[in-house]
Amino acid sequence: MRRMVAETRLSPADLILPAFVREGVSEPVPIGAMPGVVQHTRDTLRRAAAEAVEAGVSGIMLFGVPEDAKKDGLGTAGTDPDGILQVAIRDVRAEVGDELIVMSDLCLDEFTDHGHCGVLDEDGRVDNDATLERYAEMAQVQADAGVHVVGPSGMMDGQVGVIRDALDTIGKEDVSILAYTAKYSSAFYGPFREAVGSSLKGDRKTYQQDPANLRESMRELALDLEEGADMVMVKPAGPYLDVLAKVAAAVDVPVAAYQISGEYAMVEAAAEKGWIDREKAILETLTGIRRAGGRMILTYWATEAARMLSAGAR
Ligand code: PBG
Repeated sequence: MRRMVAETRLSPADLILPAFVREGVSEPVPIGAMPGVVQHTRDTLRRAAAEAVEAGVSGIMLFGVPEDAKKDGLGTAGTDPDGILQVAIRDVRAEVGDELIVMSDLCLDEFTDHGHCGVLDEDGRVDNDATLERYAEMAQVQADAGVHVVGPSGMMDGQVGVIRDALDTIGKEDVSILAYTAKYSSAFYGPFREAVGSSLKGDRKTYQQDPANLRESMRELALDLEEGADMVMVKPAGPYLDVLAKVAAAVDVPVAAYQISGEYAMVEAAAEKGWIDREKAILETLTGIRRAGGRMILTYWATEAARMLSAGAR
């Protein structure tokens, strides 16, 4: 009876798998703070993409981890056509074709030696407008590599509009933009810093949002839509379900939510200690995000959860 009358249903197609690929490794490298998640080699990334397709997952969001020596102030490895992220996009497209929506992180932080999402001015502050020029170039190389959707995650003002123009200029009108609309400056990104070998010292408070604010997110939403966002995202997911619900009620574009590294780590750590039922907790967090209005959910459990759902779990 409960199954019949359930107001929220999850299915594999709701899920998107974020995945890390590291340059120059011959074996996958485990991420300590994210048990079960690895920095992939090019080969194991292809396999993970194929498994995601098999499990019925809708998409994959790729993050590149360059060799340390290739990081610099401008994040040039991020716009190198042969940079690790572009190589990975080509690999995954070759593996899955159009069976999986291939998405890429469009941000400089994985590629800069200072770890910020943009380039810095003389005073060491992130320079919004100079960063937009880098993002435009990055969008074009990712599109040339074959990405279906770009995910600008740097929270620079005007990024969606600049990226849309850059894509259209090279005839990539069909590459979509998943805008990180409400991205909060969160402590829960902690494990991600290990996952991408981040060089960041300090914080991202000058460009990511204050967890205390909701109205501000609605303003960011209006701007992103005006600039041409095809889909919008709220991130993190769990601690911001009210934001997600409000965004979902306000728009007629698809809404995504990103269940981030720290949300993943908390459940895994508590389960490892035997304090919670791991699988039930995973599905409960995902159901909550879906109930709040997340049409697409980015989660490191995507493939596993898709299999659980196909096996009838709820
Ligand atoms: C920035 C980016 C971050 C995440 C996704 N894109 C890190 C940050 O903003 O500090 C975090 C994802 C996660 O924690 O799972 N490129």
